[in-house]
Amino acid sequence: ATTTVGIVGGGPAGLLLARLLHRCGIDSVVLESRDRAYVEHRQRAGVLEQGTVDTLRACGAGERLDRYGLVHHGIRLRYDGRSHRIDLPALTGGRSVVVYAQTEVVKDLIGLQLAGGGPLVFGARALAVTGADTARPVIHYAHEGREHTLTCDYVIGCDGFHGVTRDAVPTGARRLYERAYPYSWLGVLADVPPSCDELVYAHSERGFALFSMRSPTVSRLYLQVPNGTDPADWPDERIWEELDARSATDGPWELARGPITAKSVLPMRSVVTEPLRYGRVLLAGDAAHIVPPAGAKGLNLAVSDVTELARAFAHLKETGSGELLDGWSDACLRRVWRAEHFSYFMTTTLHTAPGQSTFDTRLQLAQLDRIASSPHAAAELAENYTGVPQAPVP
Ligand code: FAD
Ligand code: DHB
Repeated sequence: ATTTVGIVGGGPAGLLLARLLHRCGIDSVVLESRDRAYVEHRQRAGVLEQGTVDTLRACGAGERLDRYGLVHHGIRLRYDGRSHRIDLPALTGGRSVVVYAQTEVVKDLIGLQLAGGGPLVFGARALAVTGADTARPVIHYAHEGREHTLTCDYVIGCDGFHGVTRDAVPTGARRLYERAYPYSWLGVLADVPPSCDELVYAHSERGFALFSMRSPTVSRLYLQVPNGTDPADWPDERIWEELDARSATDGPWELARGPITAKSVLPMRSVVTEPLRYGRVLLAGDAAHIVPPAGAKGLNLAVSDVTELARAFAHLKETGSGELLDGWSDACLRRVWRAEHFSYFMTTTLHTAPGQSTFDTRLQLAQLDRIASSPHAAAELAENYTGVPQAPVP
């Protein structure tokens, strides 16, 4: 089989890219290794920047998002018994974020693709991509027990951190930058209304905690835990006790408890692959870069990567000029490194590393106090959190 753009991976990056290309009249095929139910129920991110929301709306995926997404005008920082609200629109000239689960974004995009887009093949696992430096790269994949090939004009690796497309680039032609963190997150879903109507990021000497939500009746909660933690060591009672201890404040606050319906441990790292393009193979989203989750940037970066990429393909189709496609990697990497820095900043300011000195804890508290007392410092956080404005949809 052949297509113009072969997309490996049907997560948010791959699905949105297929949607955007379809709108521009460019053929694509999405190969996704898992089944539809698995992809639609994989618990991950929850915070969408305004630019991400605008992009989803512009490509027709805004209906449920507008109905069920929760617009958030602030976040809370809690530290040293204090609680400080960051007023996002006041500090950014009107920008906010929307809390809407990645699972729902993926369901919306799959629905659109199946209703009137190019082929989206579930259960199709890419084995290798060959011919990156030729005019016709090939995706070799397994589907229903047989091996197949898809010959493309371009192959886009949207296959996440553990994908295979990155290996199509010879090791001598790419560079990996990375940083590991000495802690992970235990993430839980609970059938209980959120205790605060905004997200609470809590610094504590016992470790970081984050209070988020999926809907007015479902809470999404995270606890910093040591690397290698087994969720089985965290019975529900222990989770609630620890969330309580880490969110203690001098002000009014009561943490509502309810049945926990899911638990998982996520490791944390920062990774950037450079460049994002080699010949006719390009990498987007988690296949190209990973951020630790405290900045809520992973999903938003995947969206901006593929929006810019679709614009470059539309430009190529309309004008015959590959100029935007040639500049795409550098343009993306600039935004990626900004997000890497912000994610690193949020992570290292809010978590307590094993064996952390009291000096380092004092530095963290001084920085949080600075954010709470200076509109300039708060604006720096708010601008990064709500995201730099993204280019319009092609
Ligand atoms: P993915 O969502 O990883 O999609 C890649 C797709 O490719 C998957 O569907 C996969 O099945 C498929 N695939 C992989 N290999 C192959 C292959 N060989 N052939 C075919 N298909 C393949 N961000 C936040 O902001 N907040 C969070 O709380 C948060 N939690 C996270 C928890 C976890 C466990 C992980 C892994 C990420 C989390 N993130 C979070 C980050 C955010 O979810 C990602 O940045 C986002 O999913 C990136 O989208 P993507 O499409 O690039 O990659
Ligand atoms: C969520 C995850 C994050 O990493 C974050 O910073 C905020 C919210 C969430 O899953 O709701």
